[in-house]
Amino acid sequence: MTENAGSLGWDSYWLDTIENGAYQSGSELQKTLATTWNRFFTEQFSVKPEQFNLLDIACGNGVVTANAIEIATNLDTNVNFYCADFSEGAISAIKSQWPTVNASVADARELAFNDKQFDIIVSQFGIEYAGIQGIKEAVRVLSDCGILMFVMHLKGSGIYQECKNNLNIINEFKATEVVPLARNAFAAGYAIVNQTGSQRDFQNADILLAPAVEATKKLLAPASNTTVGKTLVKIFQDIGQMYGKMEQYSSADVLSWFDRVSDELDAYAERQNAMLSAAITDLDIANITEFLNSSSVIIDLFEPLPGQSGQSIGQILCCRKN
Ligand SMILES: C[S@@+](CC[C@H](N)C(=O)[O-])C[C@H]1O[C@@H](n2cnc3c(N)ncnc32)[C@H](O)[C@@H]1O
Repeated sequence: MTENAGSLGWDSYWLDTIENGAYQSGSELQKTLATTWNRFFTEQFSVKPEQFNLLDIACGNGVVTANAIEIATNLDTNVNFYCADFSEGAISAIKSQWPTVNASVADARELAFNDKQFDIIVSQFGIEYAGIQGIKEAVRVLSDCGILMFVMHLKGSGIYQECKNNLNIINEFKATEVVPLARNAFAAGYAIVNQTGSQRDFQNADILLAPAVEATKKLLAPASNTTVGKTLVKIFQDIGQMYGKMEQYSSADVLSWFDRVSDELDAYAERQNAMLSAAITDLDIANITEFLNSSSVIIDLFEPLPGQSGQSIGQILCCRKN
């Protein structure tokens, strides 16, 4: 579990296809999460007080809130929705999709909400980024008799392993230096066209690129059936395709494409690292339990959430304030 969340590159979404592969409609993870939240919201919203205040912490683009909105609408339950996340991009996406949701950029370790403001607090793969301080804040803003439901990354779970594998592939891809070396070769090629560089410079850049291309081919062959591997294969193929017909592309477009790819690979690796260090361990589970027990919070459930294949996909925490 991390104690020190930063901006973590969450505003960069170009590699969504990699990251959200596991979330894709129909995937095991998506089905298990949807079933879990459907059951939870249906149970909560079937009891109808005048109004619920519901907070989704580290909401991202609002996948859990979307589920809650749908069920509240179907059951005709009156709910005030609040969303909080570090990422400005995520919050503005929520505001434009659901103008009635109170969405704010916030650090889960220090929420600008009143004590006991919320009847229901949820978080999916988010609260753990804020460490134990995030849990303490959630308990502070939970009303008496309020309920809290979190699905957290768990060290050793299926997603954790996948994350680790993805990070390895990305790091190995970066280590080939195929992206910066190809960028150099393109820059040298365009320098010839602009009459600012020599054939010799281009040939040298091309010679340096060749072993990186071979290393990348070897690396991507066994990884090409994974989501992250497919994205890297696409980047690699795009480079090859442009290299053969350099003159058909503008140098500014190509060089800025390379810069974007580099930045986004870095941001993706940063996010995977953040997920791995946010995942809760046995020690975190013991610390959270101890804190909840000392705070008049009754733990209903604190256990691994099994996916359809039986392997856990995270740790589920459901508890109520006395
Ligand atoms: C893996 S995403 C999960 C998003 C969403 N709950 C979902 O299931 O799709 C983690 C989210 O936590 C947010 N986050 C990380 N640290 C945070 C913090 N200290 N306070 C608020 N949000 C944070 C990130 O911006 C990101 O949107």
